[in-house]
Amino acid sequence: MRAYSSHKDIIKLVNKVDSVGLVPTMGSLHEGHLSLIRKAISENEKVIVSIYVNPLQFNNVNDLKKYPRDIKNDLQRLEAISDIIVYVPDDNDIYEKDKKKKKYNFGHFTKIMEGKVRPGHFDGVATVVEKLLRMFNPSNAYFGEKDFQQLILIKTLVKKQELKVSIVGCETIREDDGLAMSSRNKLLNSSERTIAGNVIRLLKKAKKLYKSSTKEETKFNIIKDALMIENFNLEYFEILDISELSGFLEEEKEIRAFIACKVGKIRLIDNIKI
Ligand code: PAJ
Repeated sequence: MRAYSSHKDIIKLVNKVDSVGLVPTMGSLHEGHLSLIRKAISENEKVIVSIYVNPLQFNNVNDLKKYPRDIKNDLQRLEAISDIIVYVPDDNDIYEKDKKKKKYNFGHFTKIMEGKVRPGHFDGVATVVEKLLRMFNPSNAYFGEKDFQQLILIKTLVKKQELKVSIVGCETIREDDGLAMSSRNKLLNSSERTIAGNVIRLLKKAKKLYKSSTKEETKFNIIKDALMIENFNLEYFEILDISELSGFLEEEKEIRAFIACKVGKIRLIDNIKI
């Protein structure tokens, strides 16, 4: 592993390489991130992992301030994984003189769920990911299904901007009780951590119910259940066909349940195929 804070140094290293895999992250690395990195290593000659807490995608200053950062530990974890290139930029290296959110028009799907609850969030994500993709011109870029709407956003971005990269979706890695791994899990205290177990419980319950009830009945039942849980604030629960999420993609029909909630002050999201 070698870490660089200048993208120009990395470009020199990868411009003659056959296949480059890019794994964008915001650090505080866990097994979910590492699974993306391992997949990238198995499919590319060189792998770049970026670690950058992108201020443009936080619609809440406090959330940005509190976002867990642990760069020392991140670099230590990556040390053990073969010869990857780690990009740890400051704001100037990534945005140069243009630290502004680009305004995209991805249509309806950026106005629902995460797009609705976090206005401007997806423009911030797309801005930084487009910068990274244009900077390194990777053959493949890896994103987790944990953030499914983000994965669809990136696929749409690539198609609309006609970028030559293949976007690889990677399955969600979970704790033993099913809680999706997330950098934010560290912020939960022990009673919140127990309550957080309800996220996957509700998703699994939805999967079971949906076999014998309608979408509306399933949603009603899950929302009713969620409202009864103490210190668990449901933000949304949705059942959607992902082939209908973005008007630009040709995804196969697949029904997924999506949930977002706050346990105490910590925001959690998850989704599963149902
Ligand atoms: P971050 O939350 O650090 O996540 C980086 C990547 O890891 C994302 O593609 C995310 O979906 C994936 N990931 C997170 N938890 C996962 C899990 N439990 N299993 C599998 N994959 C998981 O997502 C972002 O950062 C940012 O928005 C970013 C794309 C880097 C742009 O700033």
